[in-house]
Order: sequence, then C-alpha cells, then structure tokens
Amino acid sequence: MLTAVSAPPAEFTAPDYVKHEGLIAWVRRMVALCQPDAIYWCDGSEAEYDALCRQMVERGTLLRLNPAKRPNSFLARSDASDVARVEDRTFICSDDPEDAGPTNNWTDPAEMRQTLDGLFQGCMKGRTMYVVPFSMGPLGSPIAHIGIELSDSPYVAVSMRTMTRMGRAVFDVLGSDGDFVPCVHTVGMPLAEGQQDVAWPCNPNTKYIVHFPATREIWSYGSGYGGNALLGKKCFALRIASTMGRDQGWLAEHMLILGVESPEGRKHYVAAAFPSACGKTNFAMLIPPTSHRGWKVTTIGDDIAWIKPGADGRLYAINPEAGYFGVAPGTSEQSNPNAMATLKENCIFTNVALTDDGDVWWEGMTKEAPAHLIDWQGQDWTPDCGRKAAHPNARFTAPATQCPSLDRDWNEPAGVPISAFIFGGRRSHAVPLVFEARDWNAGVYMAATMGSETTAAAMGKTGETRRDPFAMVPFCGYHMGDYFRHWLQLGHAQSQRPRIFGVNWFRVDENGKFIWPGFGENMRVLEWIVRRCENQAGAVEGPLGYMPSYADLDWRGLERVTPEVYAQLTSLDQAVWEKELHEHGQLFDKLKSRLPEALEREREALGERLLGTVPA
Ligand code: OXD
Ligand code: MN
Repeated sequence: MLTAVSAPPAEFTAPDYVKHEGLIAWVRRMVALCQPDAIYWCDGSEAEYDALCRQMVERGTLLRLNPAKRPNSFLARSDASDVARVEDRTFICSDDPEDAGPTNNWTDPAEMRQTLDGLFQGCMKGRTMYVVPFSMGPLGSPIAHIGIELSDSPYVAVSMRTMTRMGRAVFDVLGSDGDFVPCVHTVGMPLAEGQQDVAWPCNPNTKYIVHFPATREIWSYGSGYGGNALLGKKCFALRIASTMGRDQGWLAEHMLILGVESPEGRKHYVAAAFPSACGKTNFAMLIPPTSHRGWKVTTIGDDIAWIKPGADGRLYAINPEAGYFGVAPGTSEQSNPNAMATLKENCIFTNVALTDDGDVWWEGMTKEAPAHLIDWQGQDWTPDCGRKAAHPNARFTAPATQCPSLDRDWNEPAGVPISAFIFGGRRSHAVPLVFEARDWNAGVYMAATMGSETTAAAMGKTGETRRDPFAMVPFCGYHMGDYFRHWLQLGHAQSQRPRIFGVNWFRVDENGKFIWPGFGENMRVLEWIVRRCENQAGAVEGPLGYMPSYADLDWRGLERVTPEVYAQLTSLDQAVWEKELHEHGQLFDKLKSRLPEALEREREALGERLLGTVPA
C-alpha cells in the first residue's frame, strides 16, 4: 500500500523532509491548475516501486513477465498512436525566435503559456499527481542538476526511478532554496466521475512537448511515452541543459561515454556522438575481440553526457542518467551481450512481443523467431503473418547497475576526464573508417557538418543524407550556430582539450554490403584513437586530417580486412566530396545569421585541400 497520498489535494501538506517553500508553492499552483484527485510524493524506495508496479498490473498498464524467466520485470503496451518522440510537436519557446534557430519549432512564450493554461486546466482529474524528485547525475555532484517532475503517470514515476537518481535524498541536496528545473507532465486524459481508465492513457490528438529556456521549465502534454514523458532525459538533460551549458560554460551532449584500458593498464575515457540508430548503446558496451584480450572497455553512459571544465584544463564528464532506455530490436547475444545481461531482471519493456512462456522477444534477438507470439499490440503473431512482432522503436528500461561492463567510476561526482571526442554517422561512401581532425576548429567543423543516411526503417528516402550536427538537431535548445560558437570557445579555453575523431562503421561495397564488421571489431579503431591521444600511433596526413595507414592498425585475427579492403574503407571520392561540400554549404546557409566565421573558413580550406576549389 502507498501511504503518502494526501486528499483532498488542495489542502495537501508536503512531507516534513521537504523544506523548499518555493517548490511547495509551485506544487500548490500546479495542483490548482491540474486538479488531480490525489497527490503522492515519491520517496524512490523499492517498496514504492513494487507497489506502483502492482497497481499498474491490476489496471492492465503492465503485465508481469514470467518471474522464472525475467524476474521482477514487466511489459507495457502503449497506445498505437504513442510510440515515439514527436519532434513536430516539440517546441522551444525562447523570448527571441532567432534564439531557437531554424532547426527548432518556436512559438511565442506568452502565446504558448495561454495554450498550456487551457490544456492543463483540470487535466489530471480522476488521477493521482506523482511528485517525482530526481537528480541528473550523482547526488550532490558539482556537474549534476536537480529536477522535479509532476506527472499523472505511474509508468513515468517508476521509469524515472530506473532512469535517474530519484527519491527523497534529492530534497536533502535541494535544501530550502536550491535550484531545480520544474517539469510538468500529463497524459492529457482526465477521467470523468466513474469513468473507466484505459491501460495506456494518452491524448491521441493533442501533444505538446514544450521548453521555456529563459525560465528553465518543461511542460509535456498528451503522451505517456519515453522521451516525451520521462522529462529528465531529452527535455531536461539535453534541450534545457544545453541552454544552461551555453549560459554557464559547459556542455550537454547526445553522447555515450566509455572507458578504455590498455593492456599496460593505462586508462582513457572517450565521449562519442552518433545520431539515433547508429549503435551508441552497442559501442558503449563493446566487448573486445579475442585478439585484444588485454584491452578492457567499460561503460559510463550510452546516451547523454554532461561535460564541465575542470581546474586542470581538462573536460570532465558524467552520465546524468542512471539507466538505459534503449531500442530493443536488433539487441542480441551477438550484437550486445552486455546489454542482454543487463536486461535479465528488474526491467520494464515497452512495445516488445510476448512469448508463450511469458518472456519477451523482438526482431533480431534470435536468428529464428518463435512459432507464436503476442505482438506489441496484443495480437496473435506468427512468423508468416507479415507484421513486426515488436514495434521498431520498442524499448527496454534497465538499471545501469546491472550492466556487466559498468565502469567503477560511473557514479564519481567529479566525473571522468575526457581524452577524445568521437563523431560518426551512417555513411555508405563519403566518410573513411577513422580519422583525427587536424585541430579543434577542424573537429568542430567535422561534427557540425556530420550527417547520417536514412535507412529503410526511418522515414524519408533510403540513402538520403540528413545533416545532424553533433547528433543534436532534435535536442539542442537553442540556435545551432550559437551552439557551434560555444563549442569553439569552450574548447579553446581548455589547456588540455580532448582530440576530435571521426568514424564511420557503415561503408558499403559495390553490392551495397557493409565492408566493416563493426561491433567488437571497433576495438581496433578505439585502440588507434587512444594511442593517438598518447602520441603513440602513426598516421598519414590527408585532406580530412590524420588517418591511420594500414600498418598503423592492429589486424591480428581480422586478416580478411586486407590492404585492398582497407583502401576501400578509407578512400575519398572526389565526386562524393563535391556533393558533400555543397551540402555543408547548404547547411551553413540555413544557419548563416549565427554561423561562426571560423567554420566557413574551415569549409573553404577543406574544399581547397580536397578539390582544389570550394564548391558553391
Ligand atoms: C533516444 C533517441 O531515445 O535518441 O535515445 O531517440
Ligand atoms: Mn538518444
């Protein structure tokens, strides 16, 4: 039983450990606006998690999986209209529209507040408002920040316990006047007196994911799903945090963080940005091939990095999250054994398929599909039925502490020092396997112009390159031109700035087949990167920067990548680069009102080096 529900909510008393009058006053205002039937202050305990899950099982929101197969784990099936982030319903409401920039949807803040006031009026009727205190980053870390999410979704409350440091201790850090980011979330489906609830309440017609950078507020209406509803993740840790970082001199990035330890026992940390569906979680949990047994890769985070300058001139990073909200399809014992081990227990799976013995399954988990399943929409499924069993964006929510490769310093309040930044996308022809940018500006240029080709699973034409600077286009809370300038300035201000590398695991041959084996074999590239950071690996200088020659990489155990194959992986095609530089120019045109001059100069210099001219 949950005991802390107070009713009637208009007269609620906060728990005595909540000392922050400003926070209590804000909750009062939100209660008056949203009119929930009850308020519950989450303490983050296991008992609370268990009770909320039991309650959701009774209501049909969660299905308990077979405890013998998947202990303490649950399956949620969302409404078919509520399966992914909704970028076209995501708004950055800065005072000046120019501050949001051309890559964000902007609405006048006053106008948006009016819209939200209308939508949120009585939006929690018939429901409980959960007060969810959370820290993004280790509690009390100088790199961490606190948020409070008010939500009418118990699925959000339990997921936030897995994904963040959630619970009562947050109020101790907050004290009586600490800063916090106020986040309000509703599924947007109030219940009339006596009205029966549905398993996955949401508003199929109206969704708003709204950010006010000036006041650092987040308002989310109408969706119960992942990045739309777990407001600590994309909304706070990227969109709002990126604007905090701009104002306060730090970085909030869409990056994994991993540790690499050499056989000699020297350790480096690298942070890497890849757009969605490029294998960030797999890379963060990489297992080196047998040829590289002496190497060890450890995981700090798989999606988001907060990075602040240290007193020693280095950049220090934390993973603001405490769990993984990863894409399930494609995850298998082959592609990511560490992820599979992480998922053994205490997980919530959303929109995956259910096996006949009460376990989960998704496309790519096993070579052969089971003969019968219940699909993500609750329908009977057989391999020949012509439908996917799991939704392509089906997710797992798993505690980081269950990951076998978790780095021992993942919870270190000071963060870990970053030796290298890596940027990569899905590029069938243009970008070579790996290269090091010649300097900080060239690295920022490379990241600013990075792109990824659309796959059959994504919307848009297959093979089309979408520009996704720093993999941040959906997540940057301000003008991308200003963001580039911030990167340039912040890097130059550090005496021991990280080196910057580009990688591409996705080159294809003349038959369209991937040339590079990827996964654990990426260790070979990682080895070269960290050896470069120690000035111990050779390279040849080319138009893009420094590239390893064949002899500069360790090929033991991967003899099928011959010098000829390597040449295919690293060639630079003039025609492809002409188009590429033209597209960089188009991107810069779009951002030109705030584009740093230094980047235009980089484009000119690259054009000269590659083509002897600068394409229009
Ligand atoms: C994610 C994403 O969910 O990038 O991490 O979409
Ligand atoms: Mn992501």
